[in-house]
Amino acid sequence: MEIPFNKPFTTGIELIYIEQALHSRHLAGGGVFTKKCTAWLEKSVGCRKALLTHSCTAALEMAAILADIKPGDEVIMPSYTFVSTANAFVLRGGVPVFVDIRADTLNLDESKIEAAITPKTKAIVPVHYAGVGCEMDTIMAIADKHQLLVIEDAAQGVKSGYKGRPLGSIGHMAAFSFHETKNIVSGEGGALLINDPRFMERAEYILEKGTNRSKYFRGEVDKYTWVDIGSSFLTSEIVAACLFAQLEAEDMITKRRMEIWNEYHRAFFPQEEAGKLRRPVIPEVCQHNAHMYYLLLPNLEKRIRFIERLKSQGISTVFHYVPLDTAPMGKKVARRSGTLTHTHDLSDRLVRLPLWPGLEDQQAEVIDKVNAVLTC
Ligand SMILES: Cc1ncc(COP(=O)(O)O)c(C=O)c1O
Repeated sequence: MEIPFNKPFTTGIELIYIEQALHSRHLAGGGVFTKKCTAWLEKSVGCRKALLTHSCTAALEMAAILADIKPGDEVIMPSYTFVSTANAFVLRGGVPVFVDIRADTLNLDESKIEAAITPKTKAIVPVHYAGVGCEMDTIMAIADKHQLLVIEDAAQGVKSGYKGRPLGSIGHMAAFSFHETKNIVSGEGGALLINDPRFMERAEYILEKGTNRSKYFRGEVDKYTWVDIGSSFLTSEIVAACLFAQLEAEDMITKRRMEIWNEYHRAFFPQEEAGKLRRPVIPEVCQHNAHMYYLLLPNLEKRIRFIERLKSQGISTVFHYVPLDTAPMGKKVARRSGTLTHTHDLSDRLVRLPLWPGLEDQQAEVIDKVNAVLTC
């Protein structure tokens, strides 16, 4: 039997809630399930406001509008990230400025940020890779000193923490993803989290196509009208119903993922000792959510062979990201700050192993086959 790299986990309650949403006859966004999800997120993250969006990409695009990114404004971010981190700002005319990542966590190297700041810099976007927090104290202190905004790309960081604080609660704004590849899933889905109260009112307008519709529904204005730019960023009740079932099961989902993660980590210790690979590094100050288990192999050739051999044995493993500075669009619209040595080196060597609740029964087979491929 094939072992897929990802298999979205469902609790079984999703269908019950979706049926309730359908019966309620409120199918657009902003209904009971949307409110339950946003209340859950606000409580769990401790943010001032959570807004459900149809993706993390949409949440990042909203953040770029709220940050008032204008053509030529620079936004500091890693090149080792998903395309949406950059695209959200490029859509507003912003210029991504790529800074190298740390060799240990593969997160934005905070010690290289200040050298990338120019009079045009508007924001820093730390990406919490694999749900492991960036060095947020340093990043926030730099942002403070230079009066920059911090937008956490916490797509992979739901329920992770940094020094006991939830990811998504530290920057001025943050974005979560509930895409089917993430820990908590609603097919497509995301959330914008607002920590800085300056952005709360405008975020509602942007979410609702540039109107003050939310105020109208709260009875704060007697009619709703066009007050800002915006788009249809909000998610439907059907998706929110699915998401709420997942949020309610978050503890169990994270626990099961963590057991699988820990089992991999234990199993590959001897291979790391033997110099065959490097395992993920979790700094002491970070509480991760077992989003991803990856191995760093010695070089690109070995990674290509590793993926091919496992594939021929029915096990799907994948690599990512192609660094954005090497992509056709990255070359056109972004710039690098300094050398991106770790970015290019690590992206060639990283491979992700299957990790999903339900893998437990087959994990021993994955580990055996990985060990066999590593020794031949
Ligand atoms: C770091 C990062 N940012 C943004 C996104 C975009 O998320 P979504 O698919 O919900 O738009 C992803 C998705 O994989 C991601 O990994």
